Amino acid sequence: MANKKEWFEEDFWVSVFTEDETNIDPDNNILTLYLVKPRKDISIRGAAINIAAEESIGTWTKVVTMNERVLKLAAKVYKIETLNDVGLVSIAYPLDLFDLEAGISHMLSMVAGNLFGMGVLDGVKLLDIQLPKEYVKNFKGPKFGIEGVRKIVGTYKHPRPHLGTIIKPKVGLSPKETAQVAYEAAIGGVDFIKDDETLTNQKFNPIEDRVSSVMEALDRVKEETGRTVIYAVDVTADENRIWKNIETALANGANCIMVDFLCVGFPILRKIAEDPSIKVPIHVHRAMHAAMTRNPDHGIHMLVLAKLVRLAGGDQLHTGTAKGKMEKPQVESMKRFSGVEGIRHMNDFLRSEWYHIKTVLPVASGGIHPALVPDNLRLLGTPDIQLNAGGGIHGHPDGTKAGATAMKQAIDAYIKGIPLEEYAKTHIELKRALEKWGYKFG
Ligand code: 3PG
Ligand code: 3PG
Ligand code: MG
Repeated sequence: MANKKEWFEEDFWVSVFTEDETNIDPDNNILTLYLVKPRKDISIRGAAINIAAEESIGTWTKVVTMNERVLKLAAKVYKIETLNDVGLVSIAYPLDLFDLEAGISHMLSMVAGNLFGMGVLDGVKLLDIQLPKEYVKNFKGPKFGIEGVRKIVGTYKHPRPHLGTIIKPKVGLSPKETAQVAYEAAIGGVDFIKDDETLTNQKFNPIEDRVSSVMEALDRVKEETGRTVIYAVDVTADENRIWKNIETALANGANCIMVDFLCVGFPILRKIAEDPSIKVPIHVHRAMHAAMTRNPDHGIHMLVLAKLVRLAGGDQLHTGTAKGKMEKPQVESMKRFSGVEGIRHMNDFLRSEWYHIKTVLPVASGGIHPALVPDNLRLLGTPDIQLNAGGGIHGHPDGTKAGATAMKQAIDAYIKGIPLEEYAKTHIELKRALEKWGYKFG
C-alpha cells in the first residue's frame, strides 16, 4: 500500500475511505467484496478509492458542486487485505444511494457498474455481496423454494437428492420424439426433466405441441407409478415473446418453466417469479455466466449471481458440478470462492435461512454419469441437491430408461453407503453404465 499521494487522489477522497471498520453499519449499507488487481503504477488503496468514488459520487476530481450532502452518499472502502499483487477490498455502499424500489438492475449499475472498465485496474472481480434486511424486504424471492419443489415431487417428508435429465440431443427432435424420451426417463426414475437451453419455440419443436406431448407422457407415468415428474419448459426469449411462451406452456399443462437468467435479465426473472398467475416453479439455467465468472481476476463471481437469482425468485439454480465437464470457479488462494469449495459455499448459501426469502435448490449438471454420482453428492452436500444428467442417461448402452435407472441406482448406492462396484453386482443398469463410461471427467 503506497502512502505517497497519488495523482488521482484528491483531499475530498477521505470521504470514501475509513480506517475503522466499526464505522460501517451493516444494516444501513450494502457490503461488497472485490478482488482488485491495480495497474502497475497504482497502489491497491488508490485503486480501491477509485472504485468507491466512481460508483458513488462518480467523479475523479473536485467539482464545484461538491457539498456535505454529496459526500455523505460516498461509498466507503473499509477494509483492504493484500494477497501478493492483488487486494481484497471491502466497500460499503450506503442504502441512501439506492432507490430501494428499483431493484437489482439499479443496484448492479452501482456495485457492478463502470468499475469493470476503469483504466487504473488490470482486473477487478466482485466476489460477494451482503444485502441488509431493509434492502431485501422489497423482494418476494422464490414462490416454491426447496420445500415447495419437494412437495411437488413427493420428497418433502423423506428428503433425498433429486435426479434430473436434459432431453438430448439439444435440438432437432420432434415433439413426439421428445415426449418418448421424457416418458422413458421418467419411467426409469428421474424426478425432473428439462429442455436443453436453446430449445424454446423453434419450428421443429414448438412449445405447444412439445408441452402437450410431454405432459401427456408424464401423466401416463403418474398413472403407472404414482410419481409426479417435473418438466421445465425453456421459455427464454425477449419480452415480446417470453410471456406468450409462458402462457402456451402453462395452457398445455407445464408444471415448471425454465429461463436463462442472464440472457433474459434479472428484471424478467423477477417479474415471472412475482406474477401470482404463474403457479409453477422456475428452473434457472445460467448460460453465459462464464463470460462474467470464469476469469479469476475479472468479472462477477457466481456466488453474487446466485444471491441475486434467489432474490429475484428462482426456485432451482445451476451452480456447477464437483466432477463433470464444466470449469469450476477459480480465485487464487481463496478457498471459499474456488473449486469445489466455492461451489459448496454457494450451495450452502442457497440452502440456508436468509431473511424471509425461501431457499433455492442447487443443481449440478454438465457431464455427469453414474460413476461421478458419489463424489458429486459427497462434495456438493445432500439431501438438498439435484443431479442432472443428459448424455449420462440417454447415452446408456441400453437406452434412456436404463440410463435413468442406472443414475438412480448410483444415488441409492450412495445413500445406502454402498460402493458403486458392489451395488453394480446386483444392478445391471448401473453395471452397464460403469462399463461404458468408467470414471471419465473424474
Ligand atoms: C448446462 O446446463 O447446459 C450445463 O450443465 C452447463 O453447466 P452449468 O450447469 O455448470 O451451468
Ligand atoms: C444441461 O443442460 O444441464 C446440460 O446440457 C448437461 O448435459 P450433459 O449431461 O449431456 O453434459
Ligand atoms: Mg445444457
